Amino acid sequence: MLSDEKPSVCVLGLGYIGLPTAAVIARSGCKVLGVDVTDHVVDTINSGKIHIEEVDLDGLVQGVVSRGTLRASLMVEPADVFVIAVPTPFGDDHVPDTSYVMEAATNVAAALKPGDCVILESTSPVGTTEKMRDLIAKLRPDLKIPGMTKDIPDIAISYCPERVLPGKILEELTNNDRCIGGITPRCARKALGFYRRFVRGECVTTSARAAEMTKLVENSYRDVNIAFANELSIVADQMDLDVWEVIRLANRHPRVNILQPGPGVGGHCIAVDPWFIIHGAPEHTPLIRIAREVNDGKVGHVLEQASLMIDELPGVQVACFGLAFKANIDDFRESPALKIAAKLARRYPGRINIVEPYASELPAGFEGTDTKLIDIDEALESCPVMITLTDHDMFRSIPLDERSGKVVYDTRGIWPDQPDNLQAVTDLRLAS
Ligand SMILES: NC(=O)c1ccc[n+]([C@@H]2O[C@H](COP(=O)([O-])OP(=O)(O)OC[C@H]3O[C@@H](n4cnc5c(N)ncnc54)[C@H](O)[C@@H]3O)[C@@H](O)[C@H]2O)c1
Repeated sequence: MLSDEKPSVCVLGLGYIGLPTAAVIARSGCKVLGVDVTDHVVDTINSGKIHIEEVDLDGLVQGVVSRGTLRASLMVEPADVFVIAVPTPFGDDHVPDTSYVMEAATNVAAALKPGDCVILESTSPVGTTEKMRDLIAKLRPDLKIPGMTKDIPDIAISYCPERVLPGKILEELTNNDRCIGGITPRCARKALGFYRRFVRGECVTTSARAAEMTKLVENSYRDVNIAFANELSIVADQMDLDVWEVIRLANRHPRVNILQPGPGVGGHCIAVDPWFIIHGAPEHTPLIRIAREVNDGKVGHVLEQASLMIDELPGVQVACFGLAFKANIDDFRESPALKIAAKLARRYPGRINIVEPYASELPAGFEGTDTKLIDIDEALESCPVMITLTDHDMFRSIPLDERSGKVVYDTRGIWPDQPDNLQAVTDLRLAS
């Protein structure tokens, strides 16, 4: 491939990261083959449709599939650039599971030819790209492998993490800065040339190991800082202080910027990636580990506080606002909101109602609890107790006069004007 020719690209893993990436590369004019192990994913994309929710992705995929620049398959085919975006979960004891990456790399190895570039995008423990390189070297002894030959290597292998925000993936895929780590500087330069075709943000090169660690550090930074806010919120509950007010006031200090507490940390990134660092250096990560424990422990604290409130008002209907792990998305993976709501539903059968505008039916976890999915109007009409678990804009915009007289536990601080519960609890008791 000459440098001004458009490379053919094969993207492995067509989920929240791989599919938008494949579509954006296809939009730049490259021929893209998307590979997934799931029939349904492949069939859906080939029919011009999508199997995940993401703003504007449906129109983009429909366009590139109908123009013939994107197609999907279960099988890897020869290409100039291979991008791997498969899952990297953790297993028992939070040990990172890179088996999906190694399986994808095995399939790529069979299709490699001199001149090709392999890029890992999955969030990975430090050293994974080198392990992938070692695997490819074993499977393809005919190729000169970067870092293992004195000659110019036949292929390039790099790591380039993704840092997009769900709901803004297409915008951020093109506009965010990218950190590109090569097994060698030459590998990084090859990948840089590729990303420059569709990324408008700055692309910075480094080593594969530094790029792997950078991604883990970004999410651990968020986790540790959220843990600080969550710990403050527990202390504030004990001292009968309004944590939101204290944080607002503290943040007036020019060099203080405390994040917002919540019911815990969920999703497949911030709650997972810190474990990859802890696993790599267990003796030297007490802070990161404790932060994880504080954030996981916040679920139990919210559950106990909510239960104390519900126990005070026997028989009263309760509305839990939100199941998603963060605002304005339909993703319930590892969601603390979902864990709390489901536990309350089991503890108080027939009394818990769920308001989740991003769900058309209740997800798993509420079986046998007589829990109903209701809309905001119905909750305001029929539920004297309201617990906010997710900060969807639709909840934030409920004005005080529609919330007046309600007993509220606001774990997200979305209703700062809500009066304390004393009067509402007294009124409810008198009415019952
Ligand atoms: N979702 C995010 O917001 C986000 C953000 C940054 C980084 N990441 C990272 O990106 C990676 C992918 O995450 P995701 O959210 O897109 O996951 P996902 O579960 O949405 O999608 C992964 C896809 O890979 C497919 N797959 C599994 N094994 C495969 C194989 N051997 N070959 C081809 N396809 C295979 C699965 O069927 C699935 O469709 C993970 O490492 C994740 O940590 C995700």
